[in-house]
Amino acid sequence: LSSTFDFAANLFPLSSTTGAGGYAPIGAPTSGARPRGMLGGGSLEKHKTLTYLNGLSLIIGLIIGSGVFSSPSQISSKVGSPGAAIVVWIVAGILAWTGAASYAELGGAIPLNGGAQVYLAKTFGELAGFLFTWTAVLVLKPGSAAIIAIIMGEYFVCAVIGAEAEYVNPWINKSVALAGIFSVTLFNCVSTRMGTRINDMLMFLKFVALLFVTVVGIVVAVTGYTFKGEKDVAWKAKDWFNDTSTDLSNWAVALYGGLWAYDGWDNTNYVVGEFRNPSRDLPRVIHSAMPLVIVSYVLANVAYFLVLPVEEVNSSNTVAVMFGSKVFGPVGSIILALMVSASCLGALTSSTFTAGRLVYVAGKEGYIPGLFGKIGINNQDPSVSTQRTRNWASRKLDQLFGDGEMGLFFTPIYALVLNGVITAGYCIVGEFPTLVTFYGVAGYTFYFCTVLGVIILRVKEPQLERPYQTWITTPIIFCCVSLFLLSRAVFARPIQTLAVVAFVIAGIPVYFWRVHGRDKLSKAGGGDAHKPWWRFWKK
Ligand code: ARG
Repeated sequence: LSSTFDFAANLFPLSSTTGAGGYAPIGAPTSGARPRGMLGGGSLEKHKTLTYLNGLSLIIGLIIGSGVFSSPSQISSKVGSPGAAIVVWIVAGILAWTGAASYAELGGAIPLNGGAQVYLAKTFGELAGFLFTWTAVLVLKPGSAAIIAIIMGEYFVCAVIGAEAEYVNPWINKSVALAGIFSVTLFNCVSTRMGTRINDMLMFLKFVALLFVTVVGIVVAVTGYTFKGEKDVAWKAKDWFNDTSTDLSNWAVALYGGLWAYDGWDNTNYVVGEFRNPSRDLPRVIHSAMPLVIVSYVLANVAYFLVLPVEEVNSSNTVAVMFGSKVFGPVGSIILALMVSASCLGALTSSTFTAGRLVYVAGKEGYIPGLFGKIGINNQDPSVSTQRTRNWASRKLDQLFGDGEMGLFFTPIYALVLNGVITAGYCIVGEFPTLVTFYGVAGYTFYFCTVLGVIILRVKEPQLERPYQTWITTPIIFCCVSLFLLSRAVFARPIQTLAVVAFVIAGIPVYFWRVHGRDKLSKAGGGDAHKPWWRFWKK
């Protein structure tokens, strides 16, 4: 096994001056050989608090967000028939699952925080990992969070002022979205436990919502009547595969819609280092979350089609709300709109949790100012936090939400705030169709490269210890399909694809600036290069 790290040390000859926070992956040498770009989460990783259930709610919490309630129209209007739409939901789910299974292998072999950043650094060198972090910190994470926040705002406003409103000032939606971003950032700053608890609660609610839709759909289909007492003939009138499109590019666009709904399957990989038992739990989390999500998505979509005529599904951006109003009337649409906005809020919490860790690792690595790689209050010396004398209220808060002896605010506060600010920025200026395409192209480029890494590492390092190994066909299927999707995007949206390429390339000089500066200083000063100047001054 140690040859892995020898290999890595050869790849990154300058490694090892910045401490890895004391955490070493199973079997790795405890000091010295941790390569640059693979530091992981440092001191957060010393506190292994995450369990199987936390992992489950992190991944499901992000996957089930807006998509299953909003994308159905995008899918069915492209492929033409309900049956074909269901097929797309299944295919997209399986594709996401192959990606997640490949990531599970990587996460088991390299159990560090940081997700794709660490895997890319290991496979292709630190620059690749840096470019991922560069794109993820500045665009992918905050961009997708902003999209989810805006959708949350739209549904919430829709619930409050009624689905029928003709015109809503977009700033009302945006204010709700900003409020959501602010509160979610705050919860995550207070404690890991607070973030994960809220996540667990909202995950439960999402399943309730999906189950509710499914059961209601089946009841309406079987009895033939809606809960308002109207006769519902939608499902009888339907020929499930009538008018199916034969144009491949329509299917590709539909698949993109489905993939957005399943996106977030890499979420647990960002925090592998904080799992109590990563090599056992990560594959378990992925192989239970993915089938659960696929089944509930497919059932919910069948339910939409059982109740609503195809034309109505095709023409609405808010299928779930329309479903509610058809079955229960105005009250139904309000309930469903609230459920969807809660679901988005949950996705936002999950996304923020991991985004915070990603920015934090970037700070630790010296990619961004070192301040962002710091933990909040009480971080330097755990004994300080156990000796705290506190008033009743803060002790109570501590008991409820504190992370064991670390108390409150043992979180990457600065990273979370930075992420919150960028997200809010996108939310304010965001032009969403552009953001969504950009997200798809950039996201899938990195997914593709990372999963390709599974295959490359199998060849280059057959002896690497892999507690979990997926079938070799899994990464191959994922790579082929994502390559197909990316090539479609190049032709369909050349400008946006170019923008993605330009953005990623713009990261290269930044890499040399940050890393060169860091390494020069660390040669002289022993690994403190990425600390901001005022740290040196205090010394
Ligand atoms: N699947 C989520 C939804 O349907 C979107 C996830 C966005 N991805 C991310 N990595 N933040 O809303």
